Formats: sequence, structure tokens, C-alpha cells
Amino acid sequence: MKILTVIGARPQFIKAIALSHAVARTGGVEEVLLHTGQHYDDNMSGVFFRDLGLAAPKYRFDLGGGSHGHMTGKQLAAIEDALVAEKPDVCLVYGDTNSTLAGALAAAKLHIPVAHVEAGLRSFNRRMPEEINRVVSDHLATWLFAPTDTAVRNLAAEGIGADKVHLVGDVMYDVARLIIDNPERRTPILGTLGLEPGRYAISTLHRQENTDEPARLVAILEALAGLAGTMPVVLPMHPRTRKTVQALPQAAAALDKLTVTEPLGFFDMATLLSQARIAVTDSGGLQKEAFFYRVPCVTVRDETEWVELVELGWNRLPANIEAAAISGAIRQSLDAGPGRDATPYGEGNAAKAIVNLLRGEAATAGAAG
Ligand code: UD1
Repeated sequence: MKILTVIGARPQFIKAIALSHAVARTGGVEEVLLHTGQHYDDNMSGVFFRDLGLAAPKYRFDLGGGSHGHMTGKQLAAIEDALVAEKPDVCLVYGDTNSTLAGALAAAKLHIPVAHVEAGLRSFNRRMPEEINRVVSDHLATWLFAPTDTAVRNLAAEGIGADKVHLVGDVMYDVARLIIDNPERRTPILGTLGLEPGRYAISTLHRQENTDEPARLVAILEALAGLAGTMPVVLPMHPRTRKTVQALPQAAAALDKLTVTEPLGFFDMATLLSQARIAVTDSGGLQKEAFFYRVPCVTVRDETEWVELVELGWNRLPANIEAAAISGAIRQSLDAGPGRDATPYGEGNAAKAIVNLLRGEAATAGAAG
């Protein structure tokens, strides 16, 4: 069986390693990687291939930047050509990026079955590009690999046949176990940044709804600056955010109080996050990774797809995106004890379950979590 896997943005390189490892351990499956180039800076792309040992993609395009329509359109054409040349049995896509949508659409039009990993997540906010990408990809897919019970319910509510939906757990937990099970892989980054375990905060910001709305971005940065009065706050800055803050003089005073770094590689980020006192983020992935390391999280968004973490008490959303409300949520999170323990994302063997299912075998025991 041949799988053509489309990746393009930072979280997809991380997710891809779990599946690529599982493919390598399974006989009779060949995986061809296609990188759209949506993320292209070395610290957003190349570092993850090196850190995680992900094979160089057979197809490497340079199709990042520009408006959503332009980016997705260029990717669609390039992926179609590769699919025609490779004739895979399955086209596999991850998550909710423009590369996901382009891959799913190109394959569906060629009648190549689409496998969507991280299917069924919903924010119910169609103003988010990610929501549009994931809804369309789910409806085009033949194989929908859902990470949670909530995701399975969301798909059922949209009338997607239960025979196509498979609860396998979350591939990001598979990857997090690389460091949970091997603490010796932690890097010296705490020392480099002058931090002590459990006594600093980590933050990431990149969502268009925050970065393209100056009032929201400044409010978040002011709340982070307030937190920096009690503990160091590390902010590895995404290129989208960097572009916005450069044109935003109001952000400068707040940024001065933070430890701003370039985007970090996987093991530096995992080392920092896993020993942080708290995470403050608008990233989908980081909310979950914080939980894998049992670090409390404040999500600076109006809604989250990972509702189980809010229910378990590990994640809090501010009442609104204003500095006082965000600071309040951060304070509550610091004052509250740990959330409840549970395993809503499976046992860390989602990738194996996916490969087995694609090969037509029954999922291995425990994969559904
Ligand atoms: C994208 C995904 C989002 C995912 C995120 C992870 C979409 C719609 N969004 O958002 O779901 O969570 O990736 O980071 O696909 N840029 C650089 N260098 C890079 C990469 C990007 O300068 O290496 C610039 C781009 O040119 C663009 C901006 O940063 O101007 C944002 O990149 P883009 O790919 O549009 O979206 P993300 O915000 O990264």
C-alpha cells in the first residue's frame, strides 16, 4: 500500500513523525512525503526534520505566504501533479491548515481516498480559516481518524457515516511520549534562558484572530507583561506575530518585559513547556501538550476545540480578550490546584492504530483510549 502524506506547517511536521515511525515498523506500507512549503523558515520547518529524524520529503514545494486563496490554489495544483505521478492508494492529511485543505481537495477530485488525521474538531467559528479547512476536509475524507469522543460526536452531528469514523487517540500524544518516556532528551534551554523549573511561564501566539486584531494582541501582551512581574515569561515568537508587532508601537512596552525568542525546535519547546508553571497560548497543539506534561494552560481565544481540557480543569478561557480578563484567568489558573486526571487522548499509540486500520486490520487493543 502506498500513502502520500501532505504536510506544510509546523504542527504537521511534528504529527508526521509519529505516523512515519509506525509506517517504518509495518511491512508492506510505503509513505511518500510531500511538503507544500507553507512554513519555510528553517526554525519553522527544517529544524523539525532534523530534531525528529523525519525523512526528507520526496516532493518539496515553495508554496507559502500570500492570501489564503492564492496559497491554497497554488498548493492544490502542485499536489494534484504529485498525486497523478505517484498514484497512491491513500492521500493522508493532518489537522486544519491550508495545506490540509489543498491535499484533501486535490485527492478527492482524483478519486483517491483521503485519510484525515485529527478529524472532527470544531470551534463552531467559521471566521477561523482553520474551521473552514477542517470541515471541508472531513466531508471529503474516506477515513476520518478522530482523536477524542467529542470529535466523534461532532462528525455524527454533521451526518458523516459512523463507518468512516475511527476513534484512535491523538498522534500528538504519541509524539509527546518521546520526551515523557525519555527525559534524557531534554535540552539545556532552561539554563540558556536563566530559568528555574516550575518558576516561569511559556507563551505562544499566532492565530490570525489575535495577530491581525491589534486590540486583542496588545491586550494579551499586556496580560503577559503583568504576569512577568511575578515570574519570567518566555515568548518564542511566530513569524506572523513578529510581522504584526513590528507595526504596533503599543506592543513595544509590554514586549520589553518578556523573554522573546525565535521559534524553537521540538525538544527545546518540549523541555520548556514540560517544566513551566503555566502556559498561555492560542495554539491548539500547545493546549494539549501542556496537559500531556500536566502544566495548566490559559487559552487566549474565544473558544477551544479541546473542550475536555476545560472540563477537566487543566485549561481556562478568559471571559473576553481584554487584559483584565486574561490576567484574571491566569491568576485563577495559578491559584487552582491541578486539574483532574484522565486519558481523553488515548494511550500514545494512535499512529499505529491508523496504519493498522489503513492496512485493513483491526485496531490494536487500547488504541481507542
Ligand atoms: C498556520 C495554520 C494554523 C496552524 C499554524 C501553525 C492555516 C490557515 N493556518 O497558521 O492552522 O496552527 O500554521 O503555526 O493554514 N511565515 C514566515 N515563515 C514561515 C512560516 C510563515 O515568515 O516559516 C509567515 C507567512 O508568510 C505568513 C505568516 O507567517 O505571512 C503566517 O503563516 P501562515 O502559514 O499563513 O499561517 P500560520 O499563522 O502559521
